[in-house]
Amino acid sequence: GKTIVITGSSSGIGAETARLLRQQGARVIGVDRNDPMITLDGFVRADLSEPSAIDAAVAQLPDRIDALCNIAGVPGTANADLVARVNYLGLRHLCQRVLDRLPEGGAIVNIASILGAEWPLRLAQHKALAETANFEDGLAWLAGQPVPQETCYQYFKEALIVWTVTQSQKWFLEKGVRMNCVAPGPVFTPILGDFVAMLGEERVQKDAHRMKRPALADEIAPVVAFLCSDASRWISGVNLPVDGGLASTYL
Ligand code: NAI
Repeated sequence: GKTIVITGSSSGIGAETARLLRQQGARVIGVDRNDPMITLDGFVRADLSEPSAIDAAVAQLPDRIDALCNIAGVPGTANADLVARVNYLGLRHLCQRVLDRLPEGGAIVNIASILGAEWPLRLAQHKALAETANFEDGLAWLAGQPVPQETCYQYFKEALIVWTVTQSQKWFLEKGVRMNCVAPGPVFTPILGDFVAMLGEERVQKDAHRMKRPALADEIAPVVAFLCSDASRWISGVNLPVDGGLASTYL
């Protein structure tokens, strides 16, 4: 079986993905700031907002990792600096640190969001941020372009999509490692309430009404598992919406 590292494994989509991949026979190592609620094959506690903590976590991970699922994330009700660190800079740092442990055919799956769908509006900014070499350079670049608190969640999900798509070209050609995003619409997890606080009851109700209901975590996890599997070996550099068609209603 494959060895798969999953961040955010202690709640919501990450916990469901860990459960499913173990059921499918993978050895799953969780990484989270909180204790796991389910049985895992290994667990590393780490605060993924700090590069030094990420490095310490990587030192405890296996030498060979077949897939990395970056599922940990904070909602836009968190401070914009923390959103930048966890949802983008730390995620990117972890990928860079884990890359040389992924074999040819290895996979990285990053959880974006339907709220990142407007990335084309700020493409030049997101490409410039994607070109910063590391966590500290990214922070320094952001200090010159402060991101408003109200839209920080959207901004860093957009940035994640642009980084994933652009960086994947290089890693696929040079290392044979695939990297893709999954972009869920609303999902029933503990942070759904934070999206109501971020966007307002009306918008969330409107979206929920369009799709009849939010997704369940077990409607997202199988797609993440597919993108980790060899069945998806020719898929690289895509952002796959898993939103019950919600994005299509924005046209
Ligand atoms: P959740 O709150 O249930 O799980 C998030 C996990 O990330 C938690 O276990 C938490 O401890 C961990 N985490 C957060 N900050 C961390 C840090 N600094 N260090 C280590 N671990 C940390 O949320 P959910 O819904 O499962 O979210 C998973 C991903 O899906 C996130 O990236 C979120 O932005 C994204 N998403 C969620 C949607 C939803 O409606 N629930 C919709 C679209 C995207």
